[in-house]
Amino acid sequence: MLLNNRVALVTGASRGIGAATARLLAAEGAAVGVNYVSNRAAGEAVVEQIKQAGGRAILTQADVTDPEQVQQMVQTVSAEFGPIDTAVLNAGPSFPVEPFVNYRWEDFERKLVGELKGAFHCCKALTPSMIQQRRGNIVVISSSLSRHSDTGFVAHCTAKSGLDAFVRSLATELGPDGIRINTIAPGLTNTDATTFIPDQAKQAIAGAVPLRQIAEPDDIAGAILMMVSDHTRHISGSYIPVTGGALML
Ligand SMILES: NC(=O)c1ccc[n+]([C@@H]2O[C@H](COP(=O)([O-])OP(=O)(O)OC[C@H]3O[C@@H](n4cnc5c(N)ncnc54)[C@H](OP(=O)(O)O)[C@@H]3O)[C@@H](O)[C@H]2O)c1
Repeated sequence: MLLNNRVALVTGASRGIGAATARLLAAEGAAVGVNYVSNRAAGEAVVEQIKQAGGRAILTQADVTDPEQVQQMVQTVSAEFGPIDTAVLNAGPSFPVEPFVNYRWEDFERKLVGELKGAFHCCKALTPSMIQQRRGNIVVISSSLSRHSDTGFVAHCTAKSGLDAFVRSLATELGPDGIRINTIAPGLTNTDATTFIPDQAKQAIAGAVPLRQIAEPDDIAGAILMMVSDHTRHISGSYIPVTGGALML
């Protein structure tokens, strides 16, 4: 297995991409902290699925934008399994999809601050013990919309491109401490967050993707597994689109 003896935290792991990632990391041998913010039943179901499959997991509630809750979450997982060496920062605030002319500053600010606060406070809480261990592996979930744009997504595009710069900065600063940090940028993925898009529109989007399909959460989880495994040990500060070829850099 790829992640034997690893202790991982996945934020926003009760549903969608985070849930698929928590299950895959656990199946590859990691002990996993499964974070959620409000949907306890969904978080419990993910922990149960992991345990049923023979893996190790603990449920941990926290709003990733709240520094005290984040510290508590990290302590909870570390107390159960030991110091966290692997983190997938996946939780991100939802946002209205509206053209710029209708966009309210309050919604724009909530998305911007929510994405950056979550990444900042999680990294603040996680990195001291990673620095001590001289070993850390962080994956931040951005979006292919940080590198191109679509009408209605001004807040998402702007916030995620801020995350990308945050990742590059930390890769530069923390590399000498043995910590690597990379960005995974999903394209459109079938989760609760995208149920507002009608099936017909999704099919039209898939028709323009070179691989002719939009992603399932497991497709994104597979790329995350690749980035946290030691097979990619010399990669840091990278930006990997997982888009079926829709975004090529
Ligand atoms: N789906 C896509 O097409 C797509 C495309 C590009 C990028 N992404 C990015 O991928 C990530 C996951 O998206 P998704 O589609 O899998 O989302 P999702 O299915 O809507 O699930 C959201 C998850 O995040 C948790 N969460 C939300 N706010 C949180 C907070 N403040 N603190 C802790 N947890 C929080 C939710 O917990 P509860 O269950 O407790 O509410 C849930 O587990 C996001 O960063 C998103 O921007 C998604």
